[in-house]
Amino acid sequence: MQIFTTVAEFRAWRKTAGQVAFVPTMGNLHEGHISLCQAAKARGGKVVVSIFVNPLQFGQGEDFNTYPRTFEADCDKLVAAGVDALFHPTVDQLYPRTEQQYKVEPPAIQNELCGQFRPGHFRGVATVVTKLFNIVQPDAAMFGKKDYQQLKVIEGMVADLDMPIEIVPVDTGRASDGLALSSRNGYLTAEERAEAPRLYRNLMAIKTALEAGATDFVKLTEAARADLENHGWRVDYVEIRDQQRLEHARPGDREMVVLGAARLGKPRLIDNLEVTLG
Ligand code: PAJ
Repeated sequence: MQIFTTVAEFRAWRKTAGQVAFVPTMGNLHEGHISLCQAAKARGGKVVVSIFVNPLQFGQGEDFNTYPRTFEADCDKLVAAGVDALFHPTVDQLYPRTEQQYKVEPPAIQNELCGQFRPGHFRGVATVVTKLFNIVQPDAAMFGKKDYQQLKVIEGMVADLDMPIEIVPVDTGRASDGLALSSRNGYLTAEERAEAPRLYRNLMAIKTALEAGATDFVKLTEAARADLENHGWRVDYVEIRDQQRLEHARPGDREMVVLGAARLGKPRLIDNLEVTLG
């Protein structure tokens, strides 16, 4: 695997690389990330991964400084997955000026769901992903459904701005008890780790009810919120939205997604489940 830390070196390699499938990450890689690499590998061309903890998408008081950085272990996993090239720039490489002047502004959805609790987060994501796309110039890019709102923001951006890149959604990788794999799971104490799958179980209960024909969305989401709060969670939201545009779901919708975000001790966990009615 070739490792590039500067834009110039990467661009020189890219000139002769042919078809490229790209997996942008912030590192501290787990099986969820690796499944994105495998989906990229399955396309046949070169696989490029980036590791960059993007300051622009972290809010004040968030974990930018303490975000787990495990570069050596990450490299071993990427080599084992057959990744061709790793782009690992410094903050100075991507943001040479003290303040990024031009930013990519997502539409109103950036202020809902996670955006309501992380102001500016999706602007930071859209901006860095645009920069990475311009540097890597991929034919396809893989994004996990784990971060469903992020996937939708990127899909919308690529469509609206005519970026010639196929966005490939990849299913959420989970631990055997259902907990969605996440770099932030490392912040959980042993006790919290045992409690953590409750978010998944509540989303699953809503999914099961929807599949059985339930239409009282408020009742379903409030029951999940109450169960979580009764077990010490601080809930940001539990909502049922439509899969395409993330608008509030309405009875009769067939393609829905149940999304939740809640804090358990220090870490904030997010998860979601798609519900497609036949
Ligand atoms: P990061 O959290 O490192 O995630 C990188 C990619 O891995 C994202 O597409 C994310 O959805 C996916 N991913 C994370 N956990 C997953 C899981 N359990 N199953 C499947 N896929 C999973 O998301 C980011 O980084 C950043 O916002 C980034 C897009 C790199 C921009 O900075």
